[in-house]
Amino acid sequence: MPSITPVTWSASLPSSTQLELFAVTAPGLESCLLAELQPLAERSRLVAGGVEIHGDLTTLYRLNLWSRLATRVLLRVGTVHALHFEELRRKTTALPWSGFARSAVRLRISATAHHCRLIHTGAISERVSLALGDAGVPVTTDESAPLLHVFVRGDQDHFTLSVDSSGELLHRRGYRLQDGGAPLRETLAPALLHLAGYLPSQTLCDPMCGAATLAIEAALLSLRRAPGIGRPFAFQDWPGFEPSRWQQLVDEARAGELSQLAQPILASDRDPQVLEIARRNAERAGVLPHLQLHCLDVHQLKLPSAAEGLILCNPPYGKRLRQPRLVETYRGLGSLLRRSPGFRLAILTTTPQLAQAAGPIGNVHWLRNGGLRVGLFSVGKPQREATATLSSAS
Ligand SMILES: C[S@@+](CC[C@H](N)C(=O)[O-])C[C@H]1O[C@@H](n2cnc3c(N)ncnc32)[C@H](O)[C@@H]1O
Repeated sequence: MPSITPVTWSASLPSSTQLELFAVTAPGLESCLLAELQPLAERSRLVAGGVEIHGDLTTLYRLNLWSRLATRVLLRVGTVHALHFEELRRKTTALPWSGFARSAVRLRISATAHHCRLIHTGAISERVSLALGDAGVPVTTDESAPLLHVFVRGDQDHFTLSVDSSGELLHRRGYRLQDGGAPLRETLAPALLHLAGYLPSQTLCDPMCGAATLAIEAALLSLRRAPGIGRPFAFQDWPGFEPSRWQQLVDEARAGELSQLAQPILASDRDPQVLEIARRNAERAGVLPHLQLHCLDVHQLKLPSAAEGLILCNPPYGKRLRQPRLVETYRGLGSLLRRSPGFRLAILTTTPQLAQAAGPIGNVHWLRNGGLRVGLFSVGKPQREATATLSSAS
């Protein structure tokens, strides 16, 4: 008899019940996410696409409130083994769905299947939808009803069913209503800060800041502001939601916020319109008074002396933004590093040739940004101002 292994969960269950959670992140950021989540959840483990966590309801709340790198947090409802659609429907019906619908919900189902006899994801979604109806979950098409988003992942005829606890994706922090073109995802920016070894005790400069995502995320991190504070989450619509427990976490987060940065965060861009967008984003994020924003070309920029500083940016790559003098732009970063004692340089770009135009390259972490393969290159000081044209990069 194939097994059904549901995570026990209901509205009346003690909040100490152990839950199987999964924090999803962008490919390549799993180890950064694990480093971020370990202080929040002791029992965490890296897997492809994210981090598995064992914890209770408080852990689930805390992950949503504090994770800067996760795009959503899933709660595993159970795993069923199925070789036929009717079997999938029957076993899915037996899982404990009542914990996720206080009233009628809009249902969304996302299914994948690998190495399964049942491979038609449309038919899998349909059977899961029918199973939720069989289980008594009231479903509506009313756009104002809470969304219940169910994820089905089939592997070797085992189907793992999870519900999304986050709702709106976690990278949508709410401050970036406009961008200046080719922006970084709000979850990629803290990962870059982590990979580049940024600490709040260091001066930070993004000399090609665009919408100021890196500078804003660095300020939120340095001021110890919880990224999820003030936004709603899907778990708040579940019958077992404990408002007092959630409020306690929010109050603790607010009490732990710092009122000022330990070291300056500078952001500049040569485009005045883009800088205005950066200013408005920083204002919405509540960090404008903490940032030093300037409209300057990188060639004109002069950084304050710093015991320890980091220049971190993603310049135009020449793929998503049209830029005739791309190599000159990268050389400008090398020159900035040469005239800024105490600073290191890390550049997110598509090719080593572009990064090399700034200086000798050291470590590289390969990631994905907006569908492109990009590397975060640490770049050393160029021996002298470069003059030759890099044909491979121009
Ligand atoms: C890829 S965008 C940066 C996106 C940004 N990280 C974000 O999240 O929105 C590159 C930015 O570099 C700026 N830029 C290009 N050349 C520059 C230069 N020579 N000096 C200063 N800024 C420059 C552009 O105006 C553009 O806003």
